[in-house]
Order: sequence, then C-alpha cells, then structure tokens
Amino acid sequence: MNAAANILHKQVQAKPDSVLGLATGGTMLRLYAEFIALCRQKSTTLSKITTFNLDEYVGLASVHPHSYHSYMQEHLFSKTDIDINTTYLPRGDAPDPHQEAASYETLIKNAGGIDIQLLGIGKNGHIGFNEPSSSLASRTRVKTLSVGTIEANRQYFPGDCEFPKMAITMGVGTIMNSRECILVATGADKAEAIAKMVEGPVTASCPASILQFHQNVTVLIDEQASSALQMRAYYQQVHPRGYNND
Ligand code: PGA
Repeated sequence: MNAAANILHKQVQAKPDSVLGLATGGTMLRLYAEFIALCRQKSTTLSKITTFNLDEYVGLASVHPHSYHSYMQEHLFSKTDIDINTTYLPRGDAPDPHQEAASYETLIKNAGGIDIQLLGIGKNGHIGFNEPSSSLASRTRVKTLSVGTIEANRQYFPGDCEFPKMAITMGVGTIMNSRECILVATGADKAEAIAKMVEGPVTASCPASILQFHQNVTVLIDEQASSALQMRAYYQQVHPRGYNND
C-alpha cells in the first residue's frame, strides 16, 4: 500500500497538474490514508491535479451517504487541498445515465487522458464495474452489477438501504487508454482473480486480464493475494524485496 501511495506521490511531485484515475472500495482506504500522510509530510500540494473516478452507482445522488462521491469526499478530497472543481465522478442521478456515460468519456478526453489509473480487482476479475463478459474494448457506459459484486459490496449499505443494481463505469477500453495503471489487491479472496489476470489467457471472462496488453502496469499485492500464482518464484527473483519505488 505504501508502494502505491509512493507512486502516486512521485507522480504528483513530478507533474503537479497530473490527471489521476481514482478507485473506491475497501482496498483503497489504506492507500488514500498513506497518500494523504505522505503529502502532508512532504508538503506536497494537490491543488492542480484533476481526478476521474472509475465508477458510480446509478440512482445515487452525489450527496447520498453511500455514493462513491461521498466515499471520495470522506476519504480523500476533504483531507487534502484538492480543488473539488477538478474532481470528476459520473453523476449517478443524471436524468439520462447513458448520456452521462458518454459525456464522462468526453471529459476524460478533453483533460488529455489519464496519467495514472488506480485499480482494485473484484473476486470475479472485474476492474471498475466491468463484470465478466464485458467487451474488452468497452467505453464508459451503464453496466448491470453481478450478484457476486452486489454481495461483496452490500456490507457498505447497512440496514434496509436498497443496493443499486447498476453502475456507470469507465469501460475496459477507457482504462486501457490510461498511460499507466497501478492495480492493488490484498487477501486470499483475491488470489484466484490475480492468478487469472496475470497468468491466465486474455479473456472477457476475466476483464482484468486485458492488462496483459497494457504497456505500463504495476501489480501490488500481498502474500495472500499472490498465493495462486504459478510463477511466484520467478516474480520473487525479479523483485527480491517486493516492489521498491525508492
Ligand atoms: P475492494 O473492491 O477493494 O472493496 O475489494 C475492489 C473491486 O471490486 O474492484
């Protein structure tokens, strides 16, 4: 997590007006906390960056407590000097979600594309909310959430709050257009998805596997998430002390 925070921090130091692609979910919480701590420690300003989040639930207004807008506000934006006017997430309550998705693509393009895209991975191999069977060329669009994804994320919707059935998500093709990707995963739950992504065939059944075709991807995982990889010994030979960005 430290390594991911370091990469982001170095990116902003080198290019203060970076365009960052951001993600949500449990995995990103520690990363954002460490990134914020690093920025404070080094007095790094985030005032010139632009951010685009991967996705948002259809039907949730940005002020909804369980929206990804609220998540970003709580865990990153409110704790830094980021200019809120240059932070973008799809609007879940847009009157026409399909139009909103198309406009989001245009916004990313007009910003000059994404310098670094942060990614988590679903147990089913999704990136963003691109569920298995997503076109590997897909652009930002409305996507129906799988039962497994709803189950995994229901914990964040306490009580009788109804869980959204759809999301607006950057497409697999949109993600592939970013200049660099950092994928972060922890825990045994993710081991199978990581093995399929890194060593399996490139297939829409595991959307993350398309990253094998990306020219600049770093995969940051813990021991448990690496446990199903066949070529672990080789990766350890290449990176004996893990990934070290210093
Ligand atoms: P998680 O989600 O970090 O909450 O496991 C990752 C994802 O579904 O992309």
